[in-house]
Amino acid sequence: LPAAAVIVAAGRGERAGQVDGPKQYRKVAGRAVLAHTVETFLRHRDIGTVAVVIHADDDALLKQALGSLVERVTVVHGGATRQESTRLGLLALQEENPGAVLIHDGVRPFADAELIDRVIASIDENHGALPALPVSDTLKREATDGTISATVPRAGLHAAQTPQGFPYAPILAAHQAAHRQGHGDFTDDAAIAEWAEMPVRIVAGSPDNVKLTWARDIAMADQRLSPSIN
Ligand code: C5P
Repeated sequence: LPAAAVIVAAGRGERAGQVDGPKQYRKVAGRAVLAHTVETFLRHRDIGTVAVVIHADDDALLKQALGSLVERVTVVHGGATRQESTRLGLLALQEENPGAVLIHDGVRPFADAELIDRVIASIDENHGALPALPVSDTLKREATDGTISATVPRAGLHAAQTPQGFPYAPILAAHQAAHRQGHGDFTDDAAIAEWAEMPVRIVAGSPDNVKLTWARDIAMADQRLSPSIN
């Protein structure tokens, strides 16, 4: 299926303890995080339109971040939640009506072409696909008094990444239905697919494909992308 991409980057980065300000505009290796992310998708041979969803106040920031690349993306203004930003991004592709869409966090600049290939290869008319990694830590449920109430078996558990890919029309319909029915608390698109009873296949994620959330993530990303001296 011919694919388009929606890159969500309308968050404010205001979660307690997070880096000050939107992380997608922080520079790593001399360029904004979002520029690294957008370029990966623009370069991919199977992806046509790239829609970038930003906060309505960030037009100038985006131009500054992307430079001439800004001419090659569709700019969309997002909403108050990731879910709403995604829905608005999907709506911007309605005229094009691509067969498939990849939805990706702007703050994951290390998604690579092979990861995108794996996701695209697993989407069909009835299935979405998402990259994920098996959970390797032992999982503990915390009780209200701060002690452990249970050890959760990790067999079969995965940590979900993006890009998550779906047949376009069904995932747009699922988003529209969730919106109409007032379900606004989905944290990823695979959860909306699940709610709409669209099966989603798991493909191998990449350990490099981290979401930049904390200050130390930015420092690590900078180190990883900067050319080393030896
Ligand atoms: O807040 P969280 O870490 O889940 O954000 C994941 C991605 O969703 C980020 O790239 C962020 O910019 C985006 N987002 C958005 N609109 C919002 C909130 C988050 O596009 N209202």
